[in-house]
Amino acid sequence: MRVESLHIQGFRNLSKTSLEFDPERNFVGFIGSNGQGKTNILESLFLLGISKSFRTTENEEMVGFDQDFFSVKGVIQRKDDPLTAEVIMTRKPLKKTLKANGAVKKASDFIGHLSVVFFSPDDLGMVHLSPSLRRRYLDLLLSQLDRDYLENALRYQSALKQRNSLLRQIGDGGAQEGELEFWDQELSRNGAVLIAKRIDVIERIGAFATPYYKEATGTGDTLSLEYQPSGGGTPDADMLFGMFKKNHSRDIALGSTQSGPHRDDLRFLCNGHDLASFGSRGEWRSLILTLKFAEIELLKAKNGESPILLLDDVFSELDESRQKTLFNSIAGCQTFITTTHREFLDVIDAEKQIFVVENGVVAPS
Ligand SMILES: Nc1ncnc2c1ncn2[C@@H]1O[C@H](COP(=O)(O)OP(=O)(O)OP(=O)(O)O)[C@@H](O)[C@H]1O
Ligand SMILES: [Mg+2]
Repeated sequence: MRVESLHIQGFRNLSKTSLEFDPERNFVGFIGSNGQGKTNILESLFLLGISKSFRTTENEEMVGFDQDFFSVKGVIQRKDDPLTAEVIMTRKPLKKTLKANGAVKKASDFIGHLSVVFFSPDDLGMVHLSPSLRRRYLDLLLSQLDRDYLENALRYQSALKQRNSLLRQIGDGGAQEGELEFWDQELSRNGAVLIAKRIDVIERIGAFATPYYKEATGTGDTLSLEYQPSGGGTPDADMLFGMFKKNHSRDIALGSTQSGPHRDDLRFLCNGHDLASFGSRGEWRSLILTLKFAEIELLKAKNGESPILLLDDVFSELDESRQKTLFNSIAGCQTFITTTHREFLDVIDAEKQIFVVENGVVAPS
């Protein structure tokens, strides 16, 4: 799939603009100094695919400082039918509206119209920093691959919030422990589905990533991915229910649910050793590239066409040989790429369409 045109109004520092992308050129470069608005453009495209930002959970942050609302609209060319997707955010009241071909959609019906793979140097943090970043990777990928996953995740989050609030009420003497059973059941039912789908996607990522990593590193190293449930074992709904019940007194004392899929983790092992602890920065880079290629392959398999790629400032983190591997592997995808230096784009052989970004104004070059 590809984005034919992008129409932005009131989004972060970007001036009102309409960009038309040349169907003959797969690479679209945005060049500009620091702080001009390059990443903001990628963020607007990500929003069209995922309905969320990759860098904030505070929706208000994306509305331009002196604006009451923003609108990001894209005309998307897909193999079956073209489509117009739009995200509108008002500041007061703070409200997000998602539209496809003019009709308002809920998130699970909106995501998937435009498949997106995003890559930035910050992704390296996913390997060795907080488990929440690794869960986010799985959640974002699965929400693009599987509509039911997102519905389950939303139900799980809502039940988790209710359970946590009840735990605090019980702690204050305002409710009874027995009332937890209903929420334990809700969490177990939805949580078991989340875990099963995560384990399934990890196996599919691994099937692609293991041989690819061997080849990319040229070392014969064996990469494996392992799901780590916070409660131990491979939980089904009954096991999860037992775990939530067993943890009542601890959870009441702490006022929040300490174990469950919202605390699970994903480990990347190289020859059986955890890359988070033992990997070098170069190995982390190879791992992230491998995971991105796996994302592309999984989305291709689902949609029967390539996702779009958003590459933010990748030149700063990847050496030339990894850049070459990257650009050779993504030749068929429409790719939006940002950089501070025009000459960095020389490593890409394909035809490019270039825009210059200066103080929020995006102009063809
Ligand atoms: N809600 C907002 N309203 C107006 N301006 C904003 C808003 N949010 C961020 N900005 C501005 O956007 C600019 C940053 O844009 P962006 O992150 O896209 O820069 P960049 O070109 O990618 O820079 P770098 O090369 O450093 O990554 C900053 O000047 C910031 O103040
Ligand atoms: Mg940037």
